[in-house]
Amino acid sequence: RGDPRLQAISEAIRVVPHFPKPGIMFQDITTLLLDHKAFKDTVDIFVDRYRDMDISVVAGVEARGFMFGPSIALAIGAKFVPLRKPRKLPGEVISEAYVLEYGTDCLEMHVGAVQPGERALVIDDLVATGGTLSAAIRLLGKILDAIIGFYMPCAHTYLGIQVILGNNRMPGHLGRY
Ligand code: PRP
Repeated sequence: RGDPRLQAISEAIRVVPHFPKPGIMFQDITTLLLDHKAFKDTVDIFVDRYRDMDISVVAGVEARGFMFGPSIALAIGAKFVPLRKPRKLPGEVISEAYVLEYGTDCLEMHVGAVQPGERALVIDDLVATGGTLSAAIRLLGKILDAIIGFYMPCAHTYLGIQVILGNNRMPGHLGRY
């Protein structure tokens, strides 16, 4: 909010009308990834915000959370945990289903990837219905009880939404930036 970098980040995201179907304004972050300054600024904003919050896990949502999450994890001294679509992870998994416009989908995480007591930050590129965000929080919430920062690196005119759950030192709120 008020950060001069946000305008350039927003402008670096290409908006593609009617993709993948009529009526959808697709927020294409691949153009942000091509712009070194905007890409770095995006990661830096997250790193500055979360580096002193005792976060030990950055969980990235497939697929676009994988493009930002690892850089943030390395910079804040956390591990990276992929939250994957079904049948991608080879080990034992825990799963959480969520509803799509037509049908359902599922996010999976390896058993043992996070431990009770850890604090996780979930990274994805955007929220539409919130179904994916909710499933990621429920999935991590099976292991972690005093959790979770969730933040999206980018989306058209706003930089993200933060949801913080749990009885910890962080205030609980849902905000727009
Ligand atoms: C997109 C986006 C979020 C999700 C948001 O992913 O990257 O993960 O949709 O939508 P929601 O708030 O309605 O749940 P998508 O399902 O297209 O998967 P992909 O990144 O693997 O292509």
